[in-house]
Amino acid sequence: MSTIEVENLKYRYPDTTKLVLNDLNFSVEKGECLGIIGENTAGKSTLCYALAGLVPHFYKGAYGGKVTVNGLVVRDHEIATIVENIGLVFENPFSQMTGAKQTVYEEVAFGLENMGLVRQEMHTRIEKYLKLLAVYSVKDKNPFDLSGGQMQRVAIASVLAMEPEVLILDEPTSQLDPQGSQEVFEVIEELTKGGMTIILVEHKMDKIAQYADRVLLLHEGRQVDLDTPENIFSRGDLTDFGLTPPVVTTIAKALGIQYPGTKLYPVTIEEFKRLGEDK
Ligand SMILES: Nc1ncnc2c1ncn2[C@@H]1O[C@H](COP(=O)(O)OP(=O)(O)OP(=O)(O)O)[C@@H](O)[C@H]1O
Ligand SMILES: [Mg+2]
Repeated sequence: MSTIEVENLKYRYPDTTKLVLNDLNFSVEKGECLGIIGENTAGKSTLCYALAGLVPHFYKGAYGGKVTVNGLVVRDHEIATIVENIGLVFENPFSQMTGAKQTVYEEVAFGLENMGLVRQEMHTRIEKYLKLLAVYSVKDKNPFDLSGGQMQRVAIASVLAMEPEVLILDEPTSQLDPQGSQEVFEVIEELTKGGMTIILVEHKMDKIAQYADRVLLLHEGRQVDLDTPENIFSRGDLTDFGLTPPVVTTIAKALGIQYPGTKLYPVTIEEFKRLGEDK
């Protein structure tokens, strides 16, 4: 069985008329990194909510179909149970902070206390993940005194500390400067290499190309395509969905650098160099 299974998923927010998720069908295998792309309002964040149980348990509305995570049917379990299996890092780190804790350390401890971990295990995990995200030095600071970048990394640390089977990152670097962004992507790279199942929503297409095994293209709540980065970014109609491919793919198209058999274009610099040298 796949780690995530989405069958005929449909969803409409309360008091609205439009389906924000319109008949989605896909699965995600253990250890896979699935990229989700689409223009603003395509439904990416709402899909993340549906995977993590906020839809339909927190956001009510009209819900159809079935989402299964780690064998649990999301609709039939409380959010508290689902978050132990699938952790969601929100687009805006302010939304992630409890607002009830005085220090970063306590903030990360919060989710673990709810899980009922013993003290020593909690302490070990907090230290490990604060260090991994390079925010150990601010462990005694108030979360709201942090920079946007630091807050985003604390948000990621607090979700990772729960050691969920699946990690959902909804635009994890939208608040970060290039340096902070790079640091977070280095962590994502480590996690994907370590075999974690990851859902990555990202507007930076070069990052999707670099980390995603497959890419789900959403448009107006519909699933347009689900394929490898090379297949998705070689599509000639991306602009119809408000998207542009990674810069390296655009250059490859202009230069006619493509895979000989499939005629697909490279999506990363490494692939581009390899194909360019073979030419
Ligand atoms: N709480 C809500 N109530 C009603 N409609 C909502 C709510 N939240 C989002 N929507 C609507 O749902 C649609 C999808 O929004 P969503 O935030 O999922 O898009 P997105 O792809 O994540 O966009 P972005 O790239 O801007 O983050 C939009 O039309 C949005 O206005
Ligand atoms: Mg969003």
